[in-house]
Amino acid sequence: MLKPESKGAYYITTPIYYPSSNLHIGHTYCTVMADAMARFKRMTGYDVMFLTGTDEHGQKIQEIANTKGISPQQHVDEIVENIIKLWATMEISYDDFIRTTEERHKRRVQEIFRKINDKGDIYKGEYEGWYCTPCESFWTEKQLVDGKCPDCGREVKLTREPAYFFRLSKYQDSLIALFENNHEFLQPDSRRNEMLQFVKQGLEDLCISRSSFDWGIPVPIEESQVIYVWLDALSNYITALGWPEELEKYEKYWPANVHLVGKEIVRFHTVIWPAMLMSMELPLPEKVLGHGWLLLEGGKMSKSKGNVVDPVTLIERYGVDALKYFLLREYSFGMDGIYTNEIMLNRINSDLANDLGNLLSRTVAMIEKYRDGSIPAPDNGGRTGGEPAAGEMHETDAELAEIASGAASKVEEHMNRFAFNHAMEEIWAVVSRTNKYIDENRPWVLAKEEADKVRLDTVLYNLAEALRIISILIMPFMHHTAEKIRTQLGIGDEEAKWEDASVFGLIGQANVRKGDALFPRIDIEKELESLESMKTVE
Ligand code: ME8
Ligand code: MG
Repeated sequence: MLKPESKGAYYITTPIYYPSSNLHIGHTYCTVMADAMARFKRMTGYDVMFLTGTDEHGQKIQEIANTKGISPQQHVDEIVENIIKLWATMEISYDDFIRTTEERHKRRVQEIFRKINDKGDIYKGEYEGWYCTPCESFWTEKQLVDGKCPDCGREVKLTREPAYFFRLSKYQDSLIALFENNHEFLQPDSRRNEMLQFVKQGLEDLCISRSSFDWGIPVPIEESQVIYVWLDALSNYITALGWPEELEKYEKYWPANVHLVGKEIVRFHTVIWPAMLMSMELPLPEKVLGHGWLLLEGGKMSKSKGNVVDPVTLIERYGVDALKYFLLREYSFGMDGIYTNEIMLNRINSDLANDLGNLLSRTVAMIEKYRDGSIPAPDNGGRTGGEPAAGEMHETDAELAEIASGAASKVEEHMNRFAFNHAMEEIWAVVSRTNKYIDENRPWVLAKEEADKVRLDTVLYNLAEALRIISILIMPFMHHTAEKIRTQLGIGDEEAKWEDASVFGLIGQANVRKGDALFPRIDIEKELESLESMKTVE
């Protein structure tokens, strides 16, 4: 089969995570959104490049390795292996995974340093400032809050050493113009205003090398210094594309369509990164989207507080589709949201076990019981082929067909605004309408009268057809469930194409096969107790 003509390239990235320790559900959140978007764009005809990876240098990593009594490389290798396993478990469909300790990256970052230096944007000076090790951030005295890091509230250290500086201040006006003229560059708007104010207050040049530790990429013009970890990390978005050595991927995918990042690192992505690109005279990413945090009832999730929620435990118990659905459905992009096990379990039970799971099991059971498992042809008014004339359609049929076939374009609109929760709501509106259709048409009553035979055929057909459409709509978000639905409908082997979700009436003759419940109902109280007891064991 011919692939649909590509609508063009689509490049999406996640932040590259610090392998300081294993990742928690907060990190998973960003990667799940990026994965959903990548799968959605592939399915709707784009040539997608989805990049993720790990940010492995810096003082913090070196200090952790020292505490563990192993080399930084050994430490990051261990953690990165777990991160890659986590993404495999979650079936994250990245096209490339970049580690900043890889040769390809290190070489290219040194090139980046050279280019910026050749431009005259780097000078040597003396660095004195307050350094927050966990955040890998320098702060000036006036930026500190109560003498602590303004981002994380932890202790900062006074540091003084010879160092290289990047003329960030030179780009202040260009950055102001960027925020003022291009509202799409940084969303949501609240973040854009915040950054505009930040830049307007005045930018100081940025210290981009350190000599007090050595776990980093050597400065190419003075090897006793290492390149500041944020300059190293931000470069990943183009070094992974081969820049400046191999330009094929770079030319195809750069500028990125979107960098997805958490709200606390928006500043690095919308001030430092654009300034680096301006200095190199490279195009800027089209969009940076700052998402909110998942919080626990008691406040921030924190690896160091040991209160983190392990996504692997959740996947083992409820499956990867349930976890992805929950993360996409529950939270609004850009806003913080509270995570509790109870919120998650209720969501799984109500939307997945009840609404979707029951719809499938009822439909398949009725087709088995009333039609020997064979999806009947709908009433076409005695004509061969073609759709029934409008007058022959029941009102409920017309409504179901309209909502089901209209969902794909609405989902597309929401996805293009990164409103994952609204995209999910749109799909579940089809699920609810279909469940309501069963109640309205009462197949078990129709089955009693021979005179209603044709009507029952139509009702059963429409239910199977709505489920076919649902199976396509959920494909980018929960592909296992999509495949299970298709298998139970007896259409498992066909390729599910996004375009086929916009047409009602495509499902042909097929034999349904009852399978296991899509999502077994969870006894929430019991489950909460088990999750709680696992926490105390930890
Ligand atoms: O910042 N909820 O790495 P990182 C939502 N290496 N998102 C969360 C979260 C939570 N509870 N906790 C963390 C770094 N995140 C740098 C990035 S990119 C060139 C370099 C998100 O491992 C956080 O907002 O500390 C951030 O976007 C991402 O995880 C990586 O955090
Ligand atoms: Mg961080």
